[in-house]
Amino acid sequence: MNEQMEAVKAKVEARLDAAMADMPKGELADAMRYACVGGKKLRAFLVMESARLHDVPEEAALPVAAAVEALHAYSLVHDDLPAMDNDDLRRGMPTVHLQWSEATAILAGDALQTLAFQLLSDPAIGDDAARLRLIRAFVQAVGASGMVHGQMLDIAAEQATAPLDLAGIKRMQAAKTGALIIFAAEAGALIAGEDGEKLRDYAADLGLAFQIHDDVLDVTGDEDMIGKRVGKDAEAGKATFVSLLGLEDARRRATELTERAIDALSPYGDRAENLRDLARFVIDRQS
Ligand code: IPE
Ligand code: IPE
Ligand code: MG
Ligand code: MG
Ligand code: MG
Repeated sequence: MNEQMEAVKAKVEARLDAAMADMPKGELADAMRYACVGGKKLRAFLVMESARLHDVPEEAALPVAAAVEALHAYSLVHDDLPAMDNDDLRRGMPTVHLQWSEATAILAGDALQTLAFQLLSDPAIGDDAARLRLIRAFVQAVGASGMVHGQMLDIAAEQATAPLDLAGIKRMQAAKTGALIIFAAEAGALIAGEDGEKLRDYAADLGLAFQIHDDVLDVTGDEDMIGKRVGKDAEAGKATFVSLLGLEDARRRATELTERAIDALSPYGDRAENLRDLARFVIDRQS
């Protein structure tokens, strides 16, 4: 992660902390805070950069970046539950259900999801129309047509007799990981009421490259660096980009997608350099 990503990470963690300041003290608040700390805050970085490209002030974009990360944190807490991926390590720490309990993990996830909507209602973002545009797009990205749908496809595939083919895996990825990444990249345009088509194109390729690299890291990654267990996908018999394409082809595909993602940014010129760097980071990262 470069300095700019670190700076966004610190700001977003502070904004999330502030959003949780008035919560009743106790296990729920502790678990929610714990789940929001760490990670790359890559989706938040996308929000802040897309805002900058559309001349949206940082104060307006920050609650949106925090909302995206709250939602993402909830998705990870639930993804790690025994009924889903049954993981014991996340961001280098014990998963929430091991640190507290399954019930606390479920409830912390639930409350992080509503926290995301609380953040999206912040008047600092813009007028009612801007916030409504965001909320509608967010619901599409994270709900029954987006992330949750993708998680369902993932779990269903694990239980099915025949593994997913490449088209099936791409469909799953587009919902599971892609939709929220696209939302994050388009958020600045949505706030500004401008066209975010090129950012959507960029993020569609970036999101796919990101998930391919996540699958690669599950095979090649170092547990200490990555902060989560490796080898879990194969152990669970999941069809992934690596199981279908092999490591070399999966890596090649991720590189091609990254190049295409970078090309999509050409209308933004030099101002999009940070997003180009992010695309390179996505396939080079070790965590
Ligand atoms: C992990 O996301 C889950 C996937 C969608 C593959 P990240 O790799 O962005 O996780 P953090 O937020 O940096 O921990
Ligand atoms: C999870 O995908 C994506 C989410 C929506 C949370 P994975 O199950 O591959 O994520 P990791 O590898 O556990 O982070
Ligand atoms: Mg999973
Ligand atoms: Mg998982
Ligand atoms: Mg994974």
